[in-house]
Amino acid sequence: MSLRNSDQSWGTVAKTLHWFIAVMILGMFVLGWAAVNYPMSPLKLRLFIWHKTLGISLLALVLFRIAWRLANPTPVPPSGMRRWERPLARASHVLLYVVMLAMPLSGWVIHSAANFPLKLYGLVLLPSIAPADKALQTQAELVHLTLFWIFVALLLLHVGAALHHHFVYRDDTLTRMLPARSKAAGGTRA
Ligand code: HEM
Ligand code: HEM
Repeated sequence: MSLRNSDQSWGTVAKTLHWFIAVMILGMFVLGWAAVNYPMSPLKLRLFIWHKTLGISLLALVLFRIAWRLANPTPVPPSGMRRWERPLARASHVLLYVVMLAMPLSGWVIHSAANFPLKLYGLVLLPSIAPADKALQTQAELVHLTLFWIFVALLLLHVGAALHHHFVYRDDTLTRMLPARSKAAGGTRA
């Protein structure tokens, strides 16, 4: 199996990034929700430190994923994909990338506006990307929460589409994104 994408299949790097980032994002939802709702205590603080540290690491990983995506061929649409579905699939993937960037960036703005020092992995001080400002913090919190719900809606659509292709159209959309697949059965360029 090739590390790089071909015009017929996703390579190992793209697949690994897809599933690793997916698991990390679900973990971030849980960690964010737990940190907000846990009663004030040292554990609450630790949950926030991990939420922020992993969130910034995720931002770096998503930037690498985008660079990798741009430096590789994009596989042709799966064989079972209808012509009208293609722009929708492309738009939803672009939106997923936008939210994967906007979510950690808005979190970083909350953190900066709250003016709370944080050392990533206890090593590097996270720089501020916004001035210390209570009103800005509140606005950024609202943006972060709204993005979370947009993310959930996009993911329901994304997973729904993947399962629909697999169980209803019975095409290779899902299987060609799975790790074990060595070679994708033909896509279509039409
Ligand atoms: C993909 C990355 C991220 C995801 C999916 C995510 C998700 C979440 C979620 C689900 C919440 C709970 C929302 C609520 O109940 O109000 C939350 C809260 C929060 N997140 Fe993130 N987050 C991410 C990255 C970050 C980063 C990088 C930072 C800071 C450097 C951050 C800082 C915060 C803060 C401060 C809160 C509490 C906001 C409040 O009190 O309303 N997040 N996050
Ligand atoms: C947080 C979770 C997820 C995110 C952010 C996400 C994001 C993406 C993005 C941006 C793509 C476009 C291809 C790329 O650039 O790598 C993609 C492709 C894909 N995703 Fe996800 N995904 C997530 C979870 C899932 C899950 C749970 C499934 C399956 C049930 C799934 C199934 C697929 C499939 C089958 C493709 C390939 C589509 C094609 O070949 O055209 N994804 N995903």
